[in-house]
Amino acid sequence: METPDQLRDALLKDVEAANSTEALEELRISALGKKGRITELMKGLGQMAPEERKAAGQALNVLKGEVSSAIDVKKAAMADADLDKRLMSEQIDVTLPAAHEETGYVHPISQTIDEIVGIFGEMGFTVAEGPDIEDDWHNFTALNIPLDHPARQEHDTFYMPGEDGKRKVLRTHTSPVQIRTMTDQEPPIRIIVPGRTYRSDYDATHSPMFHQVEGLVIDKTSHMGHLKGCLIEFCRAFFEVDDLPVRFRPSYFPFTEPSAEVDIGCTREGGEFKIGHGDDWLEILGSGMVNPNVLSNCGIDPNEYQGFAFGLGVERVAMLKYGIPDLRTFFESDLRWLRHYGFRSLEVPGMVGGLVR
Ligand code: DAH
Repeated sequence: METPDQLRDALLKDVEAANSTEALEELRISALGKKGRITELMKGLGQMAPEERKAAGQALNVLKGEVSSAIDVKKAAMADADLDKRLMSEQIDVTLPAAHEETGYVHPISQTIDEIVGIFGEMGFTVAEGPDIEDDWHNFTALNIPLDHPARQEHDTFYMPGEDGKRKVLRTHTSPVQIRTMTDQEPPIRIIVPGRTYRSDYDATHSPMFHQVEGLVIDKTSHMGHLKGCLIEFCRAFFEVDDLPVRFRPSYFPFTEPSAEVDIGCTREGGEFKIGHGDDWLEILGSGMVNPNVLSNCGIDPNEYQGFAFGLGVERVAMLKYGIPDLRTFFESDLRWLRHYGFRSLEVPGMVGGLVR
């Protein structure tokens, strides 16, 4: 019969040699299981004389402990080694550029709107929205454009039948959202409104559906100086020209008084168009101090509140920034055009990146 010492040496050698968790488990059963080798020795204790039994029993208990802890240690080491191996094989280099697997592109109009929202968002504006199908009051009357006003004809409006004989219109500008916001919300107000607008017009610089971004600030103190500062900042951030010349030219809009159109500097030397310092100007925005009549129409007291508004054409500034020559191409759904002028979906615009292509 094996002595406990011989058995220990044999078992520890086997543990050492085991090369899988399954082999270790078999070993454990063959040593410590019901019919295991150590268990068998323990069964022999009963036949021993009481004086011998005590010492032999202790020796077997020590042996049992040694063997089972050797198995546990080896098992843990194997699990660690397995994990290390798996981690090595699943390792990825997160500093590698993401593989471009996407097949779609972000449309330049979406990209441009995101850029505009990004810039005004930094200034504390929030985004507001309104319906594309408007009523006459929100689109015209409340904006101080009465029925007989020439601006109504200039807008080339698409009219639609409405209820109670009151016709609806496809909004001709985003300005009606000014009215919706002022009738819904208490000042102070600081919103921008990107959205679709509609006019019956079609050529290289007009499309029956186009996009505008409206801006509105109403509080007790904002004045023309704030309007100028805000729009100069916007133009310089959007076109990424730090010293871009910006000019405010007196103009007329029924909903603002005084009104100004905003021009940015450019050159057209040698047939090449460039935004920045130069001898020419390009109009990109309409703006002004909100007309007191508009405030009154919305139930806001013009003696207490004031503010400014502006509107810009998204296609127009996108064409200028990204060198797109014909406005109609935006909406022709030509995939070759989109591959050329579109943006990758991971290029998210923000103030620290993505505004540059
Ligand atoms: N709604 C004008 C248009 O479509 C643009 C505009 C001009 C909006 C001046 C404004 C503004 O808010 O103050 O031509």
